[in-house]
Amino acid sequence: MNTLLLDPKKDKNTIEYAADILKKGGLVVIPTETVYGLAADALNENAVKSIYEAKGRPSDNPLIVHIAQFEDIFPLVKSVPDNAKKLAESFWPGPLTIILPKSDKIPHCTSGGLDTVAIRMPSHPIARAVIKASGLPLAAPSANISGFPSPSKAEYAFDDMQGRVPVVIDGGDCEVGVESTVITLAAETPTVLRPGGITVEQLKEVLGEVLVDDAVLNPLKKDASAASPGMKYKHYSPKTQVTVYRGTEKGYIRYLLSHKQDGMFSLCFEETADKIPVPLITYGKKDEPLTQSRRLFDALRELDEHGAITAIAQCPSQNGLGLAVCNRLFRSAGFKFIYEAPIIGLTGQSGAGKSTVAEIFAENGFTIIDCDKIAREVTDDAEVLKSLSEQFGADILTEDFKLNRRKLAEKAFSSAENTNKLNAVVHPAILKKTVNAAYALSEDNIPCVIDAPLLFQCGLDEICCLSVCVTADENVRLARIIKRDNISAQECLKRFSIQPTEKYYTDNADIIINNCANNDIIADVRCKIKRIKDLYEKK
Ligand code: TXA
Ligand code: MG
Repeated sequence: MNTLLLDPKKDKNTIEYAADILKKGGLVVIPTETVYGLAADALNENAVKSIYEAKGRPSDNPLIVHIAQFEDIFPLVKSVPDNAKKLAESFWPGPLTIILPKSDKIPHCTSGGLDTVAIRMPSHPIARAVIKASGLPLAAPSANISGFPSPSKAEYAFDDMQGRVPVVIDGGDCEVGVESTVITLAAETPTVLRPGGITVEQLKEVLGEVLVDDAVLNPLKKDASAASPGMKYKHYSPKTQVTVYRGTEKGYIRYLLSHKQDGMFSLCFEETADKIPVPLITYGKKDEPLTQSRRLFDALRELDEHGAITAIAQCPSQNGLGLAVCNRLFRSAGFKFIYEAPIIGLTGQSGAGKSTVAEIFAENGFTIIDCDKIAREVTDDAEVLKSLSEQFGADILTEDFKLNRRKLAEKAFSSAENTNKLNAVVHPAILKKTVNAAYALSEDNIPCVIDAPLLFQCGLDEICCLSVCVTADENVRLARIIKRDNISAQECLKRFSIQPTEKYYTDNADIIINNCANNDIIADVRCKIKRIKDLYEKK
């Protein structure tokens, strides 16, 4: 079959020509605001069967029926509940599909054997014009070969459907780029089966309670029945094996650096592009899900065009339209993920009780990187010792050239200037050791906590996905340090005076934990840490 690519702006009779084909039971690819659709008369069994054939679609995966005006819904469903009217008023024409019990007019092949039918009123002027001109409700799945990414450009629909349909109508690039939101009103509570152009938040504003089917972000569980048959099938998958990286931007770049190989591409946000060490395809901006949804399917096709073997994708946020982007991306990856184990920063003033909090993190499976310990170890390093004796005098060394810690502390903590001198020598060495240790753990998928008094001052918080500061009243801290270090109150207060204020820590930290060490507080700390753990626990 010869396939024409027609543009109504140039080819004057396109709409009438397409309507004619549809009335005769033929197929036409039409543009919609979501993706291109492969349309046929929804009430004509043979026409509908030819849709399944052209796409290579399993016959139990039902089609969406497209209408041009609200009244057209009545003959297609058993009844139109108030909720459906409210949704239609708010979101039609537009990227929302509503599922209702079907009328007898809908053939079984259109509804994939189900007793419900999916109805949508698209907003694209060409789609609406074709439906109107044909006078038919049009069944139209996305115009791609089953399993591949949906087409959001006429060329892609043409590539997939060439030789299978007489006409593809070019209506430009699709505005939304991913398919409509599918909501069922045939369930007890309205439930989103597929997220799309209308967000869950928007639906809740109109309906109140709205559920989101578990299979939206998770693979369908074994033996579970699919609320929507589309959930069962491999979807949106290019030939390239996509894997989704779930972690920070820094971790993502690090992963690419340490795993790069021939044929590996990055599927990343525009803002990250200039930091990526492998060939890349971008899909929108980090915090703008509409730019992502518009690009995602094209980007997946471009990976194939570039001959990518594997692609590691940056993971979008799940808010608003981001849920639809995640749903398509996760499915295109067959739910293959790389999880980044979290690196958490822990800090606070002397005596605030960081060690106790670190112990609770350890109980929860975190490995603790103790920067004080690393600081002691780096002073064993000959280079560091040499620099220190140059700065503070040879008497900071013992006769056998070991560090006299007490002496160094005395000198280094005597003034802010001296403390700075000490820091300039030891901080870079500590930093390097700490960062290496944290990255090594994260790469082995082991969550860790960097216990660092100078977390913010050294910029170590930069590699952490979360920073936690521990606080305690000054008198509590004082008593703890006097006891721990066996020093006078005066000496202790002097140390405190050259440390940043509590406010400095609490202003910089993501989470504040007060630790006066009474039982209630410890229980509260345990709860908080458990929550942090759950936050990052992979499924
Ligand atoms: O944006 C869209 O909705 C596009 C454009 C062309 O309108 N169409 C589209 O159709 O995405 P399709 O066939 O690719 O996806 C329809 C989805 C499938 O996952 C199918 O399983 C589900 O809707 N669906 C259709 N009827 C259903 C029903 N009665 N019950 C549950 N799920 C249904
Ligand atoms: Mg589809």
